[in-house]
Amino acid sequence: TLKESGTVTWQTPSNIALVKYWGKRNPQLPENTSISFTLSNCHTKTTLSYTKKQEVDNQFDFDVIFEGKNNKAFKPKIETFFKRVEAYVPFLKEYSFVIESKNSFPHSSGIASSASGMSAIALCLMSIEKEINPNLTEEEFYHKASFLARLGSGSACRSVKGEIVVWGEHPEVKGSSDLYGVEFKDTIAPVFKNYQDTILLVDKGEKQVSSTVGHDLMHGHPFAEQRFAQAQENISKIKTIFAKGAVDDFIALVESEALTLHAMMMTSSPYFILMKPNTLEVINKIWAYRKETGSKLCFTLDAGANVHVLYPESEKATVQQFIKQDLAVFCKNGEYIHDQVGMGANKL
Ligand code: PMV
Repeated sequence: TLKESGTVTWQTPSNIALVKYWGKRNPQLPENTSISFTLSNCHTKTTLSYTKKQEVDNQFDFDVIFEGKNNKAFKPKIETFFKRVEAYVPFLKEYSFVIESKNSFPHSSGIASSASGMSAIALCLMSIEKEINPNLTEEEFYHKASFLARLGSGSACRSVKGEIVVWGEHPEVKGSSDLYGVEFKDTIAPVFKNYQDTILLVDKGEKQVSSTVGHDLMHGHPFAEQRFAQAQENISKIKTIFAKGAVDDFIALVESEALTLHAMMMTSSPYFILMKPNTLEVINKIWAYRKETGSKLCFTLDAGANVHVLYPESEKATVQQFIKQDLAVFCKNGEYIHDQVGMGANKL
């Protein structure tokens, strides 16, 4: 039976892909397997309040309050999300909802907020479902939360669990599925524990090309099949890298993945470029620093101009000093965010 009303709050992290998801089939199914670090400091906090409607109509009824202000701009996105998940969340039209959300990172920082944002709403909905169906096991709960998050934004399905998450069926990853993300449970060498990620805010503007459009352009892309096959191989490789603690191989694989993602954008029809001059400045500085010092830092990129600088915890002091001294100048207003691998979503 449905409760009359209630509230539930989840805090959910952002994530950064190491092997990238780029290209999908309906409904939000990935063309290749991807794997990501779950982040910690970059997160969304969402409170979902629900009140039973007096009379059930055939509409979604919800308000969005983002960072304390009534927000109409997010409504169509959530409306689309509700339509996609309705078949799996039977109580959606029975309640009036208020969704209150805020991010730990600055809005319009160019950090993808869709991953943490969508996983937060998905987990809130699952907490309501758990009240109706208390027999739901923990595994069912998290798999379905990730399943729903995926329908909001593909990469959001990797923002439920920590520390490393795999999305997409892969013969070498037990339990992996196209439908939801699963925790990577194979051996992880100590060097890959508490891995650091400093996000350099190179460009805070709205992206010229959305990831939805980018994914679509992988249909009929001349290199698509090769790329999807390469990603599957890279999952096998990174599994070995994690097990062995092979940091040099990690660097080669992760940087290649980042540049390949952007190469796909540059070779689609129409083509586009999301990197900015300062993205390349930063990459060259990172390569030079690695050569000079033997440091194990490396970079990755998501679908934008910002650079994620990845490095082992043992280098935290030196790399953060390097970032402050040599990389901050390439960031808008000198801004960057220190983050690290995190444990996944929390119910508050
Ligand atoms: O979740 P989407 O549809 O916004 O796609 C995200 C794609 C990348 O961030 C570029 C790669 C990834 O795997 O997260």
